[in-house]
Amino acid sequence: MTNAQTVHDLATPSVLIDHTRLSKNIHAMQAACDATGIELRPHIKTHKLVPVAKMQLAAGAKGLTCAKLGEAEAMLPSGVRSIFVAHSLVDPRQARRIAELSEQLDDLRVAVTSEAHADALNALAQATGKTLSVMMALDTGLGREGTRSRDAAHRLAGKIARSSSLELRGFYTHEGHFYTTPAADRPQKVRELVEQLCTTRDSIDAGLVVWPGCSVTAEAILAIGAGRVQAVRPGAYVFGDLALSTVSKVMSAESIALQVLVTVVDKPEPGLALIDAGSKTFSSDRTLDTIFAQAADGRDLSVVRVNEEHGYVRGAAVDALKIGERVLFTPAHVCTVVNLTDQIAVHAGDGAISATWRVDARGRTQ
Ligand SMILES: Cc1ncc(COP(=O)(O)O)c(C=O)c1O
Repeated sequence: MTNAQTVHDLATPSVLIDHTRLSKNIHAMQAACDATGIELRPHIKTHKLVPVAKMQLAAGAKGLTCAKLGEAEAMLPSGVRSIFVAHSLVDPRQARRIAELSEQLDDLRVAVTSEAHADALNALAQATGKTLSVMMALDTGLGREGTRSRDAAHRLAGKIARSSSLELRGFYTHEGHFYTTPAADRPQKVRELVEQLCTTRDSIDAGLVVWPGCSVTAEAILAIGAGRVQAVRPGAYVFGDLALSTVSKVMSAESIALQVLVTVVDKPEPGLALIDAGSKTFSSDRTLDTIFAQAADGRDLSVVRVNEEHGYVRGAAVDALKIGERVLFTPAHVCTVVNLTDQIAVHAGDGAISATWRVDARGRTQ
């Protein structure tokens, strides 16, 4: 753990959270949900932090979404009572953990993602000795998990109905492909998405819930989903990143709550600076125009290439940089950055560090 009192004292690279912006992001999304009566069930894969889960629940989130059992287990100290593990669980070795998790919650749901998956999940459910509540995945264009047609959804619903160990509780989708949908097309595409989901739900059981909604679509879904959609599950909105600000433009640069503090370590040639943060800090995720990170203060400085411990910075402001200078960068994709760091320094925007948070679910990929 760092003993740093101010941002100035921190070693680099360091991941920083602006608590004021984080709190604003959490409360803005919650207020938008509350205004429509649609529940917020945020995905914690972005922050992996119990203190942030506590803030989300205190603001009014009805439960949490997790990618893996390990994330769900790590979030229990937040006091959460309802968790949806949105992944295709198949391994009988996980039966004991699922049973224990369900005993510690009021409501544990897991994903059922195809007919082939339902067989494996049914065997897993039998090994837990419990009936598992399942949310059926519907593919809405990403091409990852989920039934590909209404017929396939009906066949899967029939299979679940015949199983003594699975109970269908609702439907979900992950519409990650909306990150690259042009903003002007988003409202119409979201209308089609909600229509597809609700039509399929209504044709199977109109009493079941529909839970779509990532950070790019949440606002548009809330605008039209009242009475039709029961929850949204955005994740990255808590911090924001270049994907949400410069690519899909649903967040302003001023609301981004997580940055990486780095040091300029060399200027090997005009137009190029090297920093002490590469793929082991920023990950290899980048924006469509292949940027790994951008200066948070608006200067034209972009990390355009990474090796493990080096970032290559180019842009109009590069030659004015000094060796030893410290610069705050906004990452292209925040979720992978959090998963690469043990701890995060929390500040209120004035340079004073108010807390150091260990990343509770770091590396919990099992
Ligand atoms: C199943 C599922 N739900 C919700 C989300 C949240 O998406 P976002 O971080 O874009 O809000 C993701 C992101 O990968 C996801 O895979």
